[in-house]
Amino acid sequence: MASKDLKFNTKTIHGGQKPDAGYGAVMPPIYQTSTYAQTTPGGHKGYEYSRSANPTRTALENSLASIEGGTHGMAFGSGLAAIDAVIKLLQPGDEVISTNDLYGGSYRIFKRIFENFGIVFHFVGMQGANAVQEKINSRTKLIWVETPTNPMMNIIDIKAIASLTIDKDILLAVDNTFATPYLQKPLELGADIVMHSATKYLGGHSDTVVGALVVKDQELADRLYFIQNASG
Ligand SMILES: Cc1ncc(COP(=O)(O)O)c(C=O)c1O
Repeated sequence: MASKDLKFNTKTIHGGQKPDAGYGAVMPPIYQTSTYAQTTPGGHKGYEYSRSANPTRTALENSLASIEGGTHGMAFGSGLAAIDAVIKLLQPGDEVISTNDLYGGSYRIFKRIFENFGIVFHFVGMQGANAVQEKINSRTKLIWVETPTNPMMNIIDIKAIASLTIDKDILLAVDNTFATPYLQKPLELGADIVMHSATKYLGGHSDTVVGALVVKDQELADRLYFIQNASG
């Protein structure tokens, strides 16, 4: 059965998964290897170095894409590393509109790291789409929504914000950490990128730090895979 036909609970276990290519294991083995044997230079089975890709990470990425209803997933060493990759899609002078009560670490990376590289951030109350509309100009390249917000639990209407980006060269990213795809699927509501601190509800047991992105567009996926590999 194609992953897209599975119901949510089944996707959390089987979504995007295939028996392992090595010996047919139905549960993905943990490939604890940094590199892979090559028969000739470049002669490999799809994996050459584990920063670029690792079969266990691929299984996780496909699972994340499946539960968010996207086509491509990317896993990172933390939620902030996932955010870092998204902002690296931008150029100096580009503008970002973000919610004004987002997670403190997201605010910190925006203000204390990326503002130094010439990215301009506007923080507005996003409960009304008008406040967002007022900040949009020709330099706006990204709208960053976090809903529910951490810690205030404010709710932002993703569909209303997405309607502001139609026919514009503006990406809409949603931090879906607190809702999880069980309750909210931003890609179905018009977002281009879903981000997770999978450290939280997706991880579930307070025993790991993980970040994730999911998209539904090949070109955007290729740009993010490039950053994932190039930045590490
Ligand atoms: C909503 C939200 N986004 C992003 C992050 C950052 O994720 P991480 O701690 O996995 O880097 C957090 C962490 O608390 C968070 O709550």
